Amino acid sequence: MWKSPKSLLLAAAVATVSIGAAQAQDIAAGEKVFAKCKACHMVGENAKNRVGPILNGIVGRAAGTVDGFKYSPAMAKAGADGLLWDEANLSGYLRDPKGFLKGNKMAFAGLKKDEEVVDVIAYLESFDADGKPATPAKQSQAPAGAAAAVTTADAAGPSRETTGSVTEAAGLKLGLGRTATPEEIAAWDTDVRPDGEGLPEGSGTVAHGMEIYDERCASCHGDFGEAIGRWPVLAGGQGTLQAERPEKTIGSYWPYLSTVFDYVHRAMPFGDARSLSNDDVYALTAYLLYLNDIVDDESFELSKENFTSIRLPNEDNFFDDDRDEEPFYADKSEPCMTDCKPGAPEITMHAAVLDVTPEDGGEENASGGGID
Ligand code: HEC
Ligand code: HEC
Repeated sequence: MWKSPKSLLLAAAVATVSIGAAQAQDIAAGEKVFAKCKACHMVGENAKNRVGPILNGIVGRAAGTVDGFKYSPAMAKAGADGLLWDEANLSGYLRDPKGFLKGNKMAFAGLKKDEEVVDVIAYLESFDADGKPATPAKQSQAPAGAAAAVTTADAAGPSRETTGSVTEAAGLKLGLGRTATPEEIAAWDTDVRPDGEGLPEGSGTVAHGMEIYDERCASCHGDFGEAIGRWPVLAGGQGTLQAERPEKTIGSYWPYLSTVFDYVHRAMPFGDARSLSNDDVYALTAYLLYLNDIVDDESFELSKENFTSIRLPNEDNFFDDDRDEEPFYADKSEPCMTDCKPGAPEITMHAAVLDVTPEDGGEENASGGGID
């Protein structure tokens, strides 16, 4: 069976050997090996189906998919289930056609030497789907094409159960892993930018946010965002940024509201992250604005549409690095990077004398924990 871990392991091992195999001499050697296949298969621009199907573009192709060729039921089914001719699967099949896929009708005993397998694959890889010479770029794109084929096979209907086999079959050069599906990428791609890019559809009111907050957030962050114990404070702190111990909250310190949305959506409630709907997150963000006195109407509704109209009070204190314009730097020529100081280097002070290291490492002098 092509799914069996044993044949896959073997296949993967062979594939490892084949890395970087598409070199001229391998292709030439592969052409010789292909003499064993020629009785049944053709490649090249004028190739036709014979006893076996055309093999143009086979590396990365889904199994059993050449138009007009009558495959065995076993091969057709394996293809529909997601079997993909990546290097690993091809290696497994060419070494032992019967063992790799029971019931397939290729009457060929199999190639016995790893080299022959690697070389014939390199040779086959040198033809694109139209039988033209594959450019190196095309060859390296083969995995991407392969991935597309898998997605299609997946979308074509096999149940979730077959995903495992799709996974195995779609393994690229190393026969490991598979390309992420668009759904999986979307699930990770949730970042929201200050200009509103990435915001999902949705909306929520302060009043609704309060209900969710009381139930799911207040146990740590306090009823009014003042925090219980040492959990983070979420509100207040305005006017403390220049104090000895600034209280850095959304209302006092954070520059952009998008960070609130993104963070809550991604990470909260602590221990149950990603459990909030988009509407919940809009409502909670609205409520956090309310707790921070940035909006004062309980019926205020935050939505994708009005999101970027809200500005946080401290935004202006974040600005691009403007050092180049400061007189000190503006006047400076390019910094010296080599041989800047004439003469031999000279030791002017020792760290121990400078007193950067605590002398006895004892409790009193240890700095660990002493920094707030
Ligand atoms: C005696 C005839 C014969 C020989 C020799 C033979 N094949 Fe095949 N091959 C077939 C047949 C028939 C099929 C279709 C199998 C099926 O439908 O079950 C096939 C299928 C394949 C497939 C799967 C194609 C697809 O579209 O899914 C590959 C790859 C393949 N052969 C490669 C080779 C290579 C490489 C060689 C030489 C090392 C070779 N074959 C030798 C008859 C042959
Ligand atoms: C079990 C306790 C707990 C609950 C419940 C909880 N949080 Fe948090 N929250 C934390 C912790 C811990 C952090 C800091 C995490 C870190 O820094 O890695 C945090 C950080 C935050 C921050 C960033 C604070 C800052 O200044 O860095 C926000 C905003 C926040 N939570 C909102 C919420 C919202 C909204 C909810 C309810 C949906 C919620 N949290 C529920 C524990 C909790």
